[in-house]
Amino acid sequence: MSEGSQIREHSLEVGRRVYIETYGCQMNLADTELLLGQFRRCGYEPVRDPAMADVILLNTCAIREHAEERVVGRLGDLYRYKARRPDLQLGIVGCMAQHVRDRLLERLPFVDFVVGPDAYRRLPEVLQESGRDPYIDVRLDRSETYADLEPHREAGVRAWVTIMRGCNKFCTFCVVPFVRGRERSVPAGVVLRQVQQLAEQGFREVVYLGQTVNAYHDGEVDFATLLRRTNEVPGLLRIRFTSPHPADMSEATLEAMATCVKVCPQVHLPVQSGSDHVLHRMARGYTVEQYLRLVEKLRNVRSDMALSTDIIVGFPGETEQDFEATLRLLREVKFDQAFMFQYSARSGTKAARWPETVSPEEKLRRLREVIALQEAIAHERNQAWVGKRVEVLVEGPARKKAGWTAGKTPQFKTCVFPAPQAPVPGSVVTVAVREANSHTLFGELAA
Ligand code: SAH
Ligand code: SF4
Ligand code: F3S
Repeated sequence: MSEGSQIREHSLEVGRRVYIETYGCQMNLADTELLLGQFRRCGYEPVRDPAMADVILLNTCAIREHAEERVVGRLGDLYRYKARRPDLQLGIVGCMAQHVRDRLLERLPFVDFVVGPDAYRRLPEVLQESGRDPYIDVRLDRSETYADLEPHREAGVRAWVTIMRGCNKFCTFCVVPFVRGRERSVPAGVVLRQVQQLAEQGFREVVYLGQTVNAYHDGEVDFATLLRRTNEVPGLLRIRFTSPHPADMSEATLEAMATCVKVCPQVHLPVQSGSDHVLHRMARGYTVEQYLRLVEKLRNVRSDMALSTDIIVGFPGETEQDFEATLRLLREVKFDQAFMFQYSARSGTKAARWPETVSPEEKLRRLREVIALQEAIAHERNQAWVGKRVEVLVEGPARKKAGWTAGKTPQFKTCVFPAPQAPVPGSVVTVAVREANSHTLFGELAA
């Protein structure tokens, strides 16, 4: 055996390995990339198999009760690795860490650390030093943006870039302001440098992330200006962002969307309900009419604008009439896609103190009804693409069809097509759409 390989094996023996499983939204996925960057700098190697790891982290979500239950169940599963290897460190990071740390330690006493979303900076070092007691750090930090820390990203076509953290809105149902703290923005210079690097590395699309992403303001640069500057980055082809808040959608942002060719005609604009009575109790800060006017403006920005939304059914006090108003709104707007949820009371929020007036059975009925309606609308929206040509940013082989290639249209619709000589990921091809269902466009390469 050569000396070189001995050294490699030795360093493999001493190198520590980290495994991270991520729950929740895109921001949590981006935080996992941030954590992996931190761990790598401290000499850890990321692994895809928990059996290989010295440190196992669950990056958790607290948005609904169901999300929390999944994590608790999963921790129970992962405990078997620790039972076999007591020196393995098992920890909870993310929003749930913040939300229920005391309850978690009670229910899961074998957990070694609980670390909230503003305390990732020193995590790998702390773990290398840590003693026997569980390490807990769930302090929220009004200024932490991790601006100076480079995330670890797998090579790809699309990169997610967190541009702001936290939320100031305090919608009455939502746990996010409690678990992620107040709004703060990454300085525009840092964001743009990162995007430039990503474009140089071959990424073709960036998705700006924030809980109220269009509230972005670093003290000098607002969201509209950031979009305009991003549009200038050479090599970058597409710009998206999620989730904008309807109340923060400024004229300047609409104008930037209209003039910046790289900003995609696609917006996820959570509405939550189609009833003013419910919207008011949710403290969303807009009426149905204001929301509809915004939809109109967005469709004036680009006639091919794709819109998606989030809906909650069964909010405390939601009557049958309120619910029907939501169905009407869906029929009127005709969203391309919607994420629909039953209301789930979250401790600490205002709405959790109100009596739940909608029974679990009724919530489920309402959920089924909105889903069925939206499914039909999405199908209809996609049919409108049949016979048209679309520009597809190629991502790679299609998951379900061997020999087919998949990518996204500017509207963020998945488009698949047969391609014996698969085009390279990151290239843009023209596809003639032949068929569509509610989720996917099927086509063939246009000459
Ligand atoms: N910041 C985004 C929403 C982030 S949370 C916005 O304001 O638009 C993602 C979605 O989860 C929300 O839009 C909402 O539809 C849903 N959600 C949040 N809290 C919930 C709760 N307590 N019960 C059910 N759904 C909830
Ligand atoms: Fe939650 Fe409302 Fe903030 Fe969105 S805007 S994260 S729903 S509090
Ligand atoms: Fe969940 Fe936290 Fe995102 S609560 S939805 S992971 S911000």
